[in-house]
Amino acid sequence: MVVLERRDIQGVVVSGYGHLPRSAYLLFRIEDQAAARAWLGAMAEEVTDAAGKRAECSVNVALTYDGLAALGLDDDALRTFPLPFTDRMDSPRRATILGDSGESAPAGWDWGNAANRVHVLLMVFGPDEAELETVVTRFTDGIAAAGAMSLVANLPGHRLPGGKEHFGFRDGIGQPIIEGNERRAEKQLARTGHVTVVKAGEFVLGYPNEYGLPPVSPVVAAARDPLGLLPEYDVPDDLRFSSHTGPLRDLGRNGSYLVFRQLRQDVAGFWAFLDDATRGATGGPDRAAQERLGAKFVGRWPSGAPLVLAPDQDDPSLATANDFSYAALDSHGFACPLGSHVRRANPRDALRDDAAESVRSVRRHRIVRLGRFYGDVPADPRHADDTDRGIYFLCLNADIERQFEFVQQTWLNDTVFRGLDSETDPLVGDQDDSLCARTMTIQADPLRRKVTNLQRFVTTRGGSYFFLPGLNALRYLGALA
Ligand code: HEM
Repeated sequence: MVVLERRDIQGVVVSGYGHLPRSAYLLFRIEDQAAARAWLGAMAEEVTDAAGKRAECSVNVALTYDGLAALGLDDDALRTFPLPFTDRMDSPRRATILGDSGESAPAGWDWGNAANRVHVLLMVFGPDEAELETVVTRFTDGIAAAGAMSLVANLPGHRLPGGKEHFGFRDGIGQPIIEGNERRAEKQLARTGHVTVVKAGEFVLGYPNEYGLPPVSPVVAAARDPLGLLPEYDVPDDLRFSSHTGPLRDLGRNGSYLVFRQLRQDVAGFWAFLDDATRGATGGPDRAAQERLGAKFVGRWPSGAPLVLAPDQDDPSLATANDFSYAALDSHGFACPLGSHVRRANPRDALRDDAAESVRSVRRHRIVRLGRFYGDVPADPRHADDTDRGIYFLCLNADIERQFEFVQQTWLNDTVFRGLDSETDPLVGDQDDSLCARTMTIQADPLRRKVTNLQRFVTTRGGSYFFLPGLNALRYLGALA
């Protein structure tokens, strides 16, 4: 079992800070290089590490490619970061991969595009509004006084009652556990009856991944670390990439990549669609049928109960159940449709015909989700109001291309996923005539059903790829000369 270097890992890697329900995501642009370096160096002593739990506010910090460049990290080191990160989330190539077209196109984003570049993300988590506010004000005042950075956005996030997301379904159940994070594994087992432990190197740089290899890590030339703040890059020559030559220091060790997307949810549109699609013979609304169809979209009932274990009706006693697979229980998708959100996002043992091979393959495409929500819960989800609401979708992975982007492109937005024809994820997928038929097949015996004229219920409003450095790497970046 791997031992995580917890004092060098930021706390958000091992904890969702469930005990700190209030959060603020502060997005900054660097204005003064020297002042920003000094601020970051000081932050290295203040960020919450992964060694223990704090009852008071927890703080973590991450940087974009532009942020690292603005701090003055040298070009040779910048070139050792992976392509999706250096490309930026809003590039045409990434937008195609992620399905950010039409209303979700980067040109219309509130932040993270060329018009509103972001350099630094400061995440503050607090026990209540007042304490969070005090800490946020202390940070923003200090940063402004030093002239280090300008605030691009302050995005307040919170949890919703009952652990739900805005459409009304319980969220945050299916999560991999990072090898070496025993405390979380125990909690997960007690809560869901199931744990999937995934190699640490799938989420934290510097540890073996599911291929038994060290993940690709950004490095700096040893000569550029005169204070010796970074560990030696100790990957054998035959496993190094061509850009990794000479004596090197490991800038990535104990770091991770953080994907941050602001996803607006059209809650009234979602329920209006379910209503239209389930009107009975008399033409009246049928709330139970709406919920049933919504559950088919998600793959779990509003309580969280998985359709595979509760095929006919919601069963709140199974709200956090996660001990199930698809191949043995529901290979045809009669309970949980083949194209439902959870079945696409984590196909478990049913990606291919060989269940064991599926499990092995799926483990290489997992993400740790850390999302929080914005906007109040609607008084009645079926009535449109003026509130802007959605999810701050944050997830961790060591390889953005093979993990987050793969899940989004090859599973959620794949129009031929598991033999389906011209369909994407009904909950969060692209519903564009030029890409798919805007349908969802609900497998059933004897006759399947097709839901038609699907709409896009989730729109991207902003986003960036961040590097979440280890604490030593933060010290290094703060001390750049
Ligand atoms: C507004 C956007 C989204 C909403 C409302 C949403 C909602 C949900 C819900 C209700 C669940 C079931 C509960 C659970 O297992 O946690 C779930 C599971 C999941 N979602 Fe999403 N989701 C959204 C976007 C995404 C995106 C963009 C991704 C990845 C690219 C994603 C990946 C996952 C994964 C990996 C699971 C766990 C599946 C499992 O292990 O069974 N979700 N989501």
